[in-house]
Amino acid sequence: MYTQFTSTPSLPTTSFKGRTIIVTGSNVGLGLESCRQMVTLGASRIIMAVRNVSKGEAAAKDIRATTSCAPETLEVWQLDLSSYQSVLSFAERVKTELPRLDVLVGNAGIGTETFRITEDNEESITTNLVSLFLLGFLLHPKLRDTALKHSTQTHFTIVGTGLYEVAQFKERKAPNMGLFEALNDEKTAVMSDRYNVSKLLGMYALKQMAAMSPLQNNGVIINCVAPGLCHSQLHRERKLPGPLAAIARPTDVGARVLTYGASAPPQTHGQYLVDHKNQELHGLCSGQVGAKLQKQVWGELRQKLETISPGVTNIS
Ligand SMILES: NC(=O)c1ccc[n+]([C@@H]2O[C@H](COP(=O)([O-])OP(=O)(O)OC[C@H]3O[C@@H](n4cnc5c(N)ncnc54)[C@H](OP(=O)(O)O)[C@@H]3O)[C@@H](O)[C@H]2O)c1
Repeated sequence: MYTQFTSTPSLPTTSFKGRTIIVTGSNVGLGLESCRQMVTLGASRIIMAVRNVSKGEAAAKDIRATTSCAPETLEVWQLDLSSYQSVLSFAERVKTELPRLDVLVGNAGIGTETFRITEDNEESITTNLVSLFLLGFLLHPKLRDTALKHSTQTHFTIVGTGLYEVAQFKERKAPNMGLFEALNDEKTAVMSDRYNVSKLLGMYALKQMAAMSPLQNNGVIINCVAPGLCHSQLHRERKLPGPLAAIARPTDVGARVLTYGASAPPQTHGQYLVDHKNQELHGLCSGQVGAKLQKQVWGELRQKLETISPGVTNIS
């Protein structure tokens, strides 16, 4: 909230020439605007990974009409993060069809207060966390191979939020059950906090993944960016109240942090960035409590990922 008033992220100027990029959830909102920026900055090939291909095609058409990019720069591929099979099929397609992968922006996400199960979790946890990291781990070898083969650095950038800091995560106190099991209990679920929790858990997973993938060995920069409160369709279930709508950033301004994260320097590896600057972590991500929770979350998440795709977390 503070930076909402005190700074405006600058439009990145780093060239994406020669780069192949995937942006998930890019038919609307921050993902769409970041694609537009990366096309303008010279990206060679952008895969718009969306759950609804016709909406994706309309978004690609819009970018083509507002930039001077070659039409074939943009491709729309189907990806539904509420289905593990869709994530696995998408990753397989990437492996076989893309000669290189320079950037994966894990942008797609939902904010919902309705409790629904998709796969083995409440939907926000499946979409914003498990499938996001399933995709990240599945594509890590491609990012690493690209970095090593072309003597460059590649990026896995996830889109977080400052709201991780206010997550209460009361479910963690449920007796005699795992964290994910507790989050699956509809009776005790605090859905007003669930989006924040899904993003908090994403911070733990990001820190863990970055620690497992030393930059000097793999050349993959793994970072998390927070766009601030922005106009988008994220609040489609419940409109932003007037005062918040009044201070929300235009979508293209918020998207600048995604574009920055996707081209950010090595010092951002394992870091959380607000308006292009590394930030210290607070709330349940700090101190001994943070370290303990990170270990617990990673232990359970790793088990899930290994069940879906055995061996997927062996990336070091
Ligand atoms: N807007 C903000 O104030 C704000 C602040 C901090 C962080 N963020 C984060 O920024 C990211 C982008 O959100 P946004 O604000 O641009 O919201 P948005 O306009 O609602 O865009 C979200 C995108 O994610 C896609 N998506 C949702 N569920 C999906 C699924 N199961 N499979 C594939 N794609 C899926 C949506 O596709 P459909 O159009 O088909 O639903 C849409 O393309 C999210 O991770 C969000 O948490 C947003």
